[in-house]
Parts: sequence; structure tokens; C-alpha cells
Amino acid sequence: MDIFENASLGNVRLKNRIIRSATFEGAADRDGFPTAAYYRIFKKLAEGGVGAVITGFTYISENGKAMQPGQAGSDSMEKLESYQVIAGMMHQYDCKVFLQIAHAGRQTLRSATGFQPVGASEKKSAYFQEKPHVLTSEETYAIIDAFGNAALLAQKAGLDGVQLHAAHGYLIHQFLQPAVNDRTDEFAPDLLTGVGTVFLQKVIEAVRRKCGPDFPVLVKISASDDLKPHFSEEQFLNLVQFLDRMQVDGIEISYGTMDAAFNIFRGDIPEKLILRENGIYKHKSQLVKWFARRFVFPRLKKQFIPFQPMYNLPFAEMARRVTHLPIIVVGGFRDGRQIRHAICDCGIDFVSLSRPLIAEPDFVNKLNEDLDYTSACVSCNRCAIMCDSSHPTRCYHHSRVASPTRKTGIMN
Ligand SMILES: Cc1cc2nc3c(=O)[nH]c(=O)nc-3n(C[C@H](O)[C@H](O)[C@H](O)COP(=O)(O)O)c2cc1C
Repeated sequence: MDIFENASLGNVRLKNRIIRSATFEGAADRDGFPTAAYYRIFKKLAEGGVGAVITGFTYISENGKAMQPGQAGSDSMEKLESYQVIAGMMHQYDCKVFLQIAHAGRQTLRSATGFQPVGASEKKSAYFQEKPHVLTSEETYAIIDAFGNAALLAQKAGLDGVQLHAAHGYLIHQFLQPAVNDRTDEFAPDLLTGVGTVFLQKVIEAVRRKCGPDFPVLVKISASDDLKPHFSEEQFLNLVQFLDRMQVDGIEISYGTMDAAFNIFRGDIPEKLILRENGIYKHKSQLVKWFARRFVFPRLKKQFIPFQPMYNLPFAEMARRVTHLPIIVVGGFRDGRQIRHAICDCGIDFVSLSRPLIAEPDFVNKLNEDLDYTSACVSCNRCAIMCDSSHPTRCYHHSRVASPTRKTGIMN
């Protein structure tokens, strides 16, 4: 096994074992159609040598939109042509594309989407602080159906597969988490394992019903979280074993929810930028912002886990022991030796990257020339905060990476 060897996800052959992990593009128009800026991001990634790209999360239905402006939709066949363009463009470079399909559930704002957030339960997200409407059984089935339709859109467009976003606190994850899912109906958590897999199972079945058994389905999961009670190691392994029984085509291992987003990303917390751009803070008064800097942020910072290279690898190794399915690990990979370590020493099938490919879309080509090359990404996390702005996602760290479109002067 080596990084630059072919490897498969289901029936899809990738030219190497490095994948672009789903990364919000912020480059769709108001109706969720990809714009020229969206295509530019994808073209650069394909030229940069990555084996496959997983798109940023797309909303499968209007009431599943995230709060960030510029999110692309997978909610309608009207978008077929847009994704056909992506498929054709990426395949010219032998780069595969998976559409990440998602429903935000309670992790969104009515003021941003025009819809009341919905949820597996009426429990609020500590971060979004909006009481969700509890999905009825009928509404839940409508969402399951919408996931199936989104996958059919991907298939008809010639994309190589879909990734179900079952991580980071979005709707599928809300059903999985015993700390959120307190239902007593058929979507309740399993009594033995505590994990609410029924919704995810029905979503996978809906995708297979619409697209057939051979259309690749990847699933991104969070190995643990910062909720109370937190998702335990045992529950994580139960979830992996469930996906093994479902015979999905790949499992990507991530961490956390948006309630503690800096534990998903890890790294710097750019406070000033958060107060200026963040969808929750930007409309607050100067007094509230002062209070946040003085009292809220110092408390929050204590909860955040410091950045470490390869921070989700221990979870991926645990998963490796209970499944033979392809495992993708994401989080904190910044040079070729780390990627090789995960693949060659730990038996993980693929490594995926987000921020390094924002900083340098050609990072993989650079690694191919020199395995010791270190990413220009310093995990400053300005790219993540700027998802709330109306600018397409890009690197805002100014010292190392040259970009003609970079705005200067964004500090902290
Ligand atoms: C700007 C930005 C946008 C992201 N958008 C998504 C997304 O749409 N879907 C998703 O599953 N993860 C998303 N993530 C999380 C990444 O896929 C990844 O799990 C995380 O950044 C850790 O990997 P890294 O250290 O390679 O950046 C995003 C991360 C960043 C920085």
C-alpha cells in the first residue's frame, strides 16, 4: 500500500489515496446553483492531483439549508446540468467526485434560511439556540425521500457517488446521538447500543432504491462529540459495525458537532474575525461583543482540544479493528509522512484533507514530488470563519500562500 497507488471506493477506482474532504465552497447563487467561482475551485483541485473530491455539504431540501450564504443545493433535478459540468470537468483529470448530501436539522437559523429549523427532538443546539420543530414521522420520511432524490441527481449527473453527512451535528448525526435523540417512535435510539441508526439506515436504503446497489455511498461520521453525555467509544464502534452490516462503500472518520466547532477543526480561534463575520455574533451590539471577548471566549477556549497532527487517526485505527470496509481519516494531516503513516503503518485506506487544499489546491502534486513537503496551512481557521461571509471559500492566511484574489488586512 502506498499513497500514490490506485485504490477503490466501491466500484470507483481512485488514482491515489488522497481525497479532498468535504469543504463548503460558499460559491452557489441564491437558488443553490453552482457559479463560475464554484467551478474554479473544483478545476484547481482536479489539476492539483487529488484522487477524489467530496463536494461541500449540499442541502437536500430547502428546510435543510445551512445558515451560511452560498450553499449549493442537491434539492432539485433543475441542477442536473450544473453537476454534469462538474463531473465532465473533473473526469478529464481522472479525479473522481462525490456529492456530499446533508440536512442541517437544528444547526441552522431561521433568520438565514427563512425556515424554522427542524430536529430529531426539541433539544436546542447550544450554539444555534433555536428551538427546532420536532419532525413528525411523515416529515421524517419526506426527508429520507429527499436524500434519495439528491443521490439520484448525483447519479444522473455522472458524479461517482454520494457521501451522506452523518457527522458534525447535522440532522443524520442528531438522530444518531443519544444526547439529542430522545424519540420513542421507530426512529428512537437502539435500546442495546444507545445509537439511533434507524434514520440513517432508511436513508441508505432510499439511496439504494433510487440509484441501485452499485452506486457508491460513503458516510462521514463523528467518532465522538462534546455533548453531555458524550458519544462513547463503545457507541462509536457500534456505529461502525452498523455501517459494516449496511455494507456502505467507505466510512470517513471525523469528530464533533458545530456546538464546539473548533474541536472539529482544531487550531487557532480568530476572535476578532468571529465577532465580525460569524452568523451569530455579527449582528450583536458592541456591548455583547465585548462581553463575549471578556467572558464567553475564555471559557470556550478551555473546552477546545489543541491541534495535533492526525488528530482523528486513533479513532480510525479503532474502526479498522472492527471493519474491512474502506476507511478514510480526516483531520490535521499536514505532510506526506503523516499521510504515509496512516496508510502504510496503520492500514487506513485513504486520508482526506480540507484546509491544506484550501491553502494549496496543488498540495498533492507537491507531495508527489517531495514527500517531505509541508502544507502551507497553519490551521489559522480564518477560512472556516469566513464561511459565514458571502465570499467563496479560500485561504486568508497571508504570509505563505500567494493568491491574486486575497483580501489583505484580515487579522485574528
Ligand atoms: C472552510 C471549511 C469548510 C468545511 N465544510 C465542510 C463541509 O461542507 N462538510 C463537511 O463534512 N466538513 C466540512 N469541513 C470539515 C472538513 O471536512 C474537515 O473535517 C476538517 O476541516 C478537518 O480536516 P483538515 O485538518 O484537513 O482541515 C469544513 C472545514 C473547513 C475548514
